[in-house]
Amino acid sequence: MKKHIVLLPGDGIGSEVTSAAQEVLEALAEEFDHTFTFESKDIGGSAVDKHGTPLPQETTDACRKADAVLLGAVGGPKWDANPPHLRPEKGLLSIRKELNLFANLRPVQGFSTLLHASPLKQEVIENSDLLIVRELTGGLYFGTPSERRNNGTSVVDTLAYERSEMERIVRRAFEAAALRKKHVTSVDKANVLESSRMWREVVEEVKDEYPDVTVEHMLVDAAAMKLITNPAQFDVIVTENMFGDILSDEASVLTGSLGMLPSASMNETGFGLYEPVHGSAPDIAGQAKANPLAAILSAALMLRHTFHMEQEAQRVESAVQEALEQGYHTGDLNVPGGQQVNTQQMTEAVISLLKADSTTQ
Ligand code: NAD
Ligand code: IPM
Ligand code: MN
Repeated sequence: MKKHIVLLPGDGIGSEVTSAAQEVLEALAEEFDHTFTFESKDIGGSAVDKHGTPLPQETTDACRKADAVLLGAVGGPKWDANPPHLRPEKGLLSIRKELNLFANLRPVQGFSTLLHASPLKQEVIENSDLLIVRELTGGLYFGTPSERRNNGTSVVDTLAYERSEMERIVRRAFEAAALRKKHVTSVDKANVLESSRMWREVVEEVKDEYPDVTVEHMLVDAAAMKLITNPAQFDVIVTENMFGDILSDEASVLTGSLGMLPSASMNETGFGLYEPVHGSAPDIAGQAKANPLAAILSAALMLRHTFHMEQEAQRVESAVQEALEQGYHTGDLNVPGGQQVNTQQMTEAVISLLKADSTTQ
């Protein structure tokens, strides 16, 4: 099959992990006789430096024409004092909005070999396998532009949602749960926020369409606590944009590192932008220390969700698992023994295991 993929490396470790994922996809294409073509475009701080905007029009145009998009990360101290429209993060928010990528799927699946890498007790995390379904194009992140202001003494951000925006993400969560353990935990702050009260109503309405799926409502503060005290109670968590952002970094602790968490940002049609959950990690950028697995696992999500190449996705995921089982780990993973490797060596380990797998089948 022929597929055209736009790469948006972005800033910091973004380019390091994106090229790792590209190498894995190239090796996979060879194994399975696919043709994957790649085109890199600018986004984030590097686009501000080069084009004077964090999201050049040609980047958006290229993404629209692509079969899928793979993003690294944006941001860094160099641009932290920039005005809002020239911040790298604005580029990421704009591409999500432009492409209507409202459904952000963040699977949090521990690898058995990494149980000890988490600071949490093994018995707490060992049966955890959850999916965070985060609303990605509404809420506080976007608000009502005319109401967003900062005059020096007072400042306003608005949390706005259309009912229809809630319905489509909640439905996506129920659909995912129906294919998993059939349980949805809807996370909100309905004891305080009007938007959360409507969110609850929507969940109550949509649940009737999925009689096989059980539902529970949970306040976000309690959810933050339960996520690390009893993660096994969760199957699918559905929540609004900001809560989902915070809870997903917290959930990464279950897997041993933020460098392990992939994500898929999708629209209604199945088109997706695939991005690791982590950021540009300025503290380790340029040092070959970045864990490429979140980006590589994001590429696996691309294979599964947009290209419908389930076998290929599983091949990538098993190669990652085997690399970890063989003791390969980057510095962010607190694994005793084994072999600590850099970004490139981890990528090579995954590629060679991916190829070895085909010879044994
Ligand atoms: P971060 O995710 O970049 O880093 C948090 C910590 O995790 C750091 O110690 C970092 O070294 C470590 N880490 C993250 N990814 C890693 C990996 N793959 N391998 C090894 N270690 C890894 O978050 P931050 O430091 O709060 O933010 C830095 C910049 O990234 C900010 O400008 C922020 O806006 C941006 N950011 C971008 C995205 C994105 O583009 N999707 C996501 C989050 C943060
Ligand atoms: C993420 C990031 C982004 C977000 C930032 C960089 C805008 O933290 O993808 O989780 O908050 O959505
Ligand atoms: Mn985040």
